[in-house]
Order: sequence, then structure tokens, then C-alpha cells
Amino acid sequence: MPIAVVVGMQWGDEGKGKIIDLFAEEADIVARYQGGHNAGHTICFDGQEHVLHLIPSGIFHAGKLCIIGNGVVIDPRALMEEMQMLGAAGIALDGRLVLSDRAHIILPYHGTSDKGRESGDRFRRIGTTGRGIGPSYSDKIARLGVRAADYEDEDRLREVLFANYEEKKQILKLLYGKDLPPFDALLEEQLGYRETICRFMADTGSLIRKEIAAGKKILCEGAQGTMLDVDHGTYPFVTSSSSSAGGACTGLGIPPSQVGRVVGVIKAYTTRVGEGPFPTELKCGFGEQLRAEGHEFGATTGRPRRCGWFDAVVARYGNAINGTRALALTKIDVLDKFETLKVCTGYKHGGKVYEEMPASLKVLENCEPVYREYPGWKESTVGVDAYDKLPGNARRYIEELSRLSGAEFTLISTGPERGHTIRLSGLF
Ligand code: GDP
Ligand code: IMO
Ligand code: MG
Repeated sequence: MPIAVVVGMQWGDEGKGKIIDLFAEEADIVARYQGGHNAGHTICFDGQEHVLHLIPSGIFHAGKLCIIGNGVVIDPRALMEEMQMLGAAGIALDGRLVLSDRAHIILPYHGTSDKGRESGDRFRRIGTTGRGIGPSYSDKIARLGVRAADYEDEDRLREVLFANYEEKKQILKLLYGKDLPPFDALLEEQLGYRETICRFMADTGSLIRKEIAAGKKILCEGAQGTMLDVDHGTYPFVTSSSSSAGGACTGLGIPPSQVGRVVGVIKAYTTRVGEGPFPTELKCGFGEQLRAEGHEFGATTGRPRRCGWFDAVVARYGNAINGTRALALTKIDVLDKFETLKVCTGYKHGGKVYEEMPASLKVLENCEPVYREYPGWKESTVGVDAYDKLPGNARRYIEELSRLSGAEFTLISTGPERGHTIRLSGLF
């Protein structure tokens, strides 16, 4: 089947940007299916680092079409900034980028709402990126959202914005004491984005289905990760979209029967940004060492990422939900200096060992991880590009991760650059 989904297996930042950029070589189209500019996907080549938030990670490959699907929430301000950044890097977008006319728009009042809820002690903090993601998806589900298609007609745009404005103004004042700028300022800013949105907008679902019928290869790009999925993650400490592989069908308009392969991207250890349970988190020096060696600071907000050991319960759960039989393992080189490595195989709580992911926050927050220990390899693996060139203990660790997770590795990443990669099999 010519459709593959690439999905994050943990709490995001697994290295999806690097892996999707590599796999994009094999595809005709790269299509983002959910999330918004809360994502930060890093791609490094020719000694340069590029961070993408909204535009698919195939954009650096000339001739590949990039689609932002209906399941994505688009902040036009962030989109324009990213377009300018790519323009400055010499990437022409006309004819290469298409936005779904059904995608919902993040408006400035969504950001005000997100930040208002997250500040102070009155409401439970999620540790969001503050980008207005949750409020925009809330409006979508509540049938109050503004879609890209609404930008086609000036009168229609004014009408849908005004219908929202009065309600948001009262709610934001009441809940967070925030005043919204006048309606005319909101309208004027959005009208300023009209020309660009309309120029890049199309019925992307119809476009993708036609391309599928023509035998084109499609790579569906996930943002965030399975543990941040609104249904399957550590709710409520999740994002507001379906980041697991199922989201690719609803977020792009692809029939489920057409999806062939799902590849999971998984880090050789675990990180998470923001609040919420994290059973293998290391609050000791090892966590700081992982953060320092792995440069674990958010690509979107710059926040330090919480770090911990590899969690095979998470990996097995991700494989079950996403149907992943193949994984891309990233950042194995970050473990080069560790004497001993640990892998979690279960959670101990209340006299019971959980080998499957519990829904209960109480269990996740208070459980004790059951660990297996492995000897480190204490030599550099940075840039290694063939499996048999890896140190013996690194190979044994990788084979254990595969065995405990229940999936094969299709690729192993040994550094941020394109060439720092062991390719074991293709995407499709
Ligand atoms: P994403 O959100 O899943 O695309 O991941 P991020 O871009 O937020 O974070 C991954 C970080 O790790 C980026 O800085 C990448 O450049 C970097 N990275 C990716 N793969 C590797 C790897 O194998 N080794 C090392 N050392 N860094 C990597
Ligand atoms: P990529 O695609 C890591 C986290 C936030 C917060 C929670 C909800 O780069 O892997 P939101 O702003 O989405 O409402 O925040 O989700 N989060 C991410 N963590 N990587 C991401 O994206 C994330 N996008 C959101 O930190 O805990
Ligand atoms: Mg990221």
C-alpha cells in the first residue's frame, strides 16, 4: 500500500522531524494530519538546523508536495512566519504547499484563553505550549470554529469572527480578567492573511484521494506522540488532538482501508515537556546528564524537557494502538557515556505489577517502575551508519528494546544530521 504513517511513540520530541525528512525521499507527498504550531520538528543537514512547526517535514526535498491537512489547527501568524523563514532559506512554496480548506484556524483569542487558563493557581495547569491549541480544538468540537474556507469571502469571515468575538470577550474577561483588542483590529489582522490563505488553500482530502488513485506514495506526518493523544494518552495531561496513527485518516480524509505501514519514532530513552505523570522520570543526576547529552530543551518553547529511562510499557502500548511493527530508534548516541542503562518493563502499584498501560493517574503518578539493567558501551556511536559498526553492548541494548517492545527497528539514528543514520529497511 502506498500510504505510510509516521507517528511519535512517547510524549513527543522523539526525532520525528529528522526521520520524516529522511523518509520523504521515498514519498511523493508528505501530509501533516493533526496538531498545530505546538510542534517543533528539527531537521539538520549541511551543518544547518531548521525547526518546522506547521509545514510538513518534507519541504526540504524539492519536488515533494507538502499538505497541511484538515486535522491541523493553523495559526495564520505562525504560518506566515514559517513561510518567511523558509523563503529566506531559499525554499519556494508555490506549488509545493497546500492547506486544507477544512482546517480550523487558531485566532488570537485562543492564545489568550490558553495562557489565561495556564497562569495562576485557579485552574489545573497542563503545561501547554500556550499556542492556543486546546481552545481552537475546543471551538472545533463545539461547532464554533473558523475554518480556512471562511477566508474565501470577506463578509463570511467578518460574520463568523463577530459571532465568536462577543462570546469570547465576555468569557475571557470573566474567567481571566483579560480584555480583547477591539473587533476591528482582529478583523483587520485576519483580512491581512486572506490572500495567502486563499492562494495556498484547496480541498486536500479530494487531492490526496486522487493522488492515491494515481498510485502516488503518501507519508502522513504525526506531531506530538501517542502518550499525548487526547484519547489514548495520559489524560488530561495531553494535547487536544488525535496524535496516534488513527488521526491520519480523520485528519487527512484517507479511508482507513488504504493505510499500509505505520512506523513509530521512539527515543532510546524518554522525555516529556509540561506537567503530567512520567513513571521513569529521573529527578537525579542521570536525568540532568540525559538532558545535557541529548540537548533536551523544547524546540518550540525552549523549556527543559524532563528526562528518564526507556519505558517498554509505553512502547508496547504505542505498538498496540498504532499497529506499529517497525520502529525508528533515535538518539542512541546520547547514551554513549552511561555506565549502566535501565529499561522499565512494568509498573508496581498496590501489590500489583501493571504490564499494560493503566488509565488511572493515581497508578501512573505513584507507581514504582520495574527495571532491567544493561551495561553501557562507553564509546562514541555518533554518526555510525552501519549496524555491525555499533559496539556490542549497544547492539545488545537495541535488541533488548526491540524484544521488550515487540517491534523491529527499521532505522537507527546516531546523531541529528541526515547521514547519522543506520538504514535497515525502507518506509513503504
Ligand atoms: P520531533 O518533535 O519529534 O521532531 O523532535 P524534536 O526536533 O523536537 O527533538 C529532537 C531533537 O533531537 C532535535 O534537536 C534533533 O536535531 C535531535 N536528534 C534527532 N535524532 C537524533 C539522534 O539520533 N541523536 C542526537 N544526538 N540528536 C538527534
Ligand atoms: P512535537 O511534534 C512535546 C505538550 C505540551 C503540554 C501538552 C499540551 O514537537 O513532538 P498543547 O500546547 O499541545 O495544548 O500542550 O502537550 N506538547 C508537546 N510536547 N512535543 C510536542 O510536539 C508537543 N506538543 C505539545 O508540552 O505538555
Ligand atoms: Mg519537537
